Amino acid sequence: MTSAPPTTALGIDIGGTGMKAGIVSLEQGDLIGDRVRIPTPHPATPDTMAPIVVQLVEALRFTGPIGAAFPGIVQNCIISLAANLDDSWLNVDADALLTEALGQDVVMLNDADAAGLAEISFGAAKDQKGVVLLITLGTGIGSALFIDGVLVPNTELGHLHLDNHHDIEGWVAASARGRDDLTWDEYGLRLNRYLSHLNRIFSPTLIVLGGGGSKRFDRFADQLDHHCPIVPAKLRNNSGIVGAAMRGASEASDGAP
Ligand code: BGC
Repeated sequence: MTSAPPTTALGIDIGGTGMKAGIVSLEQGDLIGDRVRIPTPHPATPDTMAPIVVQLVEALRFTGPIGAAFPGIVQNCIISLAANLDDSWLNVDADALLTEALGQDVVMLNDADAAGLAEISFGAAKDQKGVVLLITLGTGIGSALFIDGVLVPNTELGHLHLDNHHDIEGWVAASARGRDDLTWDEYGLRLNRYLSHLNRIFSPTLIVLGGGGSKRFDRFADQLDHHCPIVPAKLRNNSGIVGAAMRGASEASDGAP
């Protein structure tokens, strides 16, 4: 006998600055109740972060599927890049680490991929066909690439080499705006250089901008050449939590996405 698919799941968004979690309605694609947030500890190692994940889950008092979004490459459960966290994450089996810490199955995926899944299912890219790119602007730059709604995981377009920038996220992430004391126009011009490059490579039908930096979309939108529609994420900063919960639930019921 097959059981009914879950209607709620818990999503965790592990970030370089904050770790957030919330209970998600999988029908609405939105949080039920408040999200909880704890600053990311330093050093940001598996040993310091796993107990925080446990605290977040305990605070929500939830029983059911759990998914977690991670700011790096997650391939077959193993972390092979964690640019904004401690290097001790490399080669760690993150699913196993959190599954052991929590005493229940946890499924992990890249944080931008999680945000993209949420936006393509419920948000600004809902039901969009063709090539859709979601770019997250935060501590780093995350990317999610979809082709006719199917995710190409771990694209890591924030680490492209462009002009004289060896790793473009250092120049264009939301964190660069404060660090380099940029006006919104100056920041918009940097972002435009980056998005124009992505446009040339992928010819996307839609670009969605997510992450904390997309909250002020209206302040820099004038500087962007709209080769294709460019829109802010609809679920804003909750998209990582929603996408992580979706992945946790789909693994629990063994289905897509
Ligand atoms: C990481 C990506 C991540 C992005 C946003 C980048 O530094 O390499 O995996 O999606 O930051 O957190």
